[in-house]
Amino acid sequence: MEVIQTVAAMQAHAEARRREGRRLALVPTMGALHEGHLTLVSAARCHADHVTVSIFVNPTQFGPGEDYARYPRQLARDVAALEALGVDVVFAPSVAEMYPEGPEANLTWVYVERLDAHLCGRYRPGHFRGVTTVVAKLFNICKPHVAVFGLKDAQQFQIIRRMVRDLHYDIELIGVPTVRAADGLALSSRNAYLTPEERTQAVVLSQAIEAAQQAIRQGEQRVEAIVEAMRQTLARAPLARVQYAEVVDAETLQPVDRIMPGQQVLIGVAVFFGQTRLIDSAFVEVP
Ligand code: PAJ
Repeated sequence: MEVIQTVAAMQAHAEARRREGRRLALVPTMGALHEGHLTLVSAARCHADHVTVSIFVNPTQFGPGEDYARYPRQLARDVAALEALGVDVVFAPSVAEMYPEGPEANLTWVYVERLDAHLCGRYRPGHFRGVTTVVAKLFNICKPHVAVFGLKDAQQFQIIRRMVRDLHYDIELIGVPTVRAADGLALSSRNAYLTPEERTQAVVLSQAIEAAQQAIRQGEQRVEAIVEAMRQTLARAPLARVQYAEVVDAETLQPVDRIMPGQQVLIGVAVFFGQTRLIDSAFVEVP
């Protein structure tokens, strides 16, 4: 396995593999890898014969007051885990390599309009612009045929899908279902911030998603009632501060008052435990 740190070396490597006729997959990450990330790597293996994992904590997707400075960084451990999985390349650039003039001086952005108006986008202004910009850069640097993302970040997945479509990227996107701990909590690098008590209570996120799915299965069409079922579940955790509990159309990511049979919807929650912000979500087809 090779660890590549410069854009030029990564582009040369990807170009050479393409000339050999290899099919390249990219799994973009911010490191602090857990079983969720490793599942994306296995999925990448099924769709390609060369797998690159990028590890880059992207400053432009963190807002002021967010956890950019303290985001867990453990490159040596991540590299060892990826080596064991048979990954071909780890692309781990510095900030200066990705943003030569500094992130604040970046002038060119990729921004998918409107899809960031609700869910996380509403509370993290500029976040998805940072994500789509860095993912576009990573596509141009790693030159994948296939890119793999987790459905845990459902809004991110839909926004990247739209970017790929609108910019005619010749890249196949694979979405991998959320990998969870035994009690249902979605695995996340940020779970490491939780105290034991917060960790126990964090189970309410997946329970809230389950409550919404159950309400929908039972034929509830009023979004107000579905959201109420989610909020009641979240209220079981005294340490939880709810940021949002929403139901939106899965394509437009706009809120709806009533869900319609056959419609694809996205249910999402975001909850703070202290300074730690956790999210969970699910795509549901209304029966
Ligand atoms: P990061 O949070 O490190 O996540 C990297 C990828 O792993 C994302 O596609 C995310 O959806 C997926 N992932 C995380 N936890 C998961 C879980 N429990 N189950 C399945 N997949 C999971 O998302 C980012 O980084 C960044 O925004 C990035 C796309 C790399 C751009 O900087």
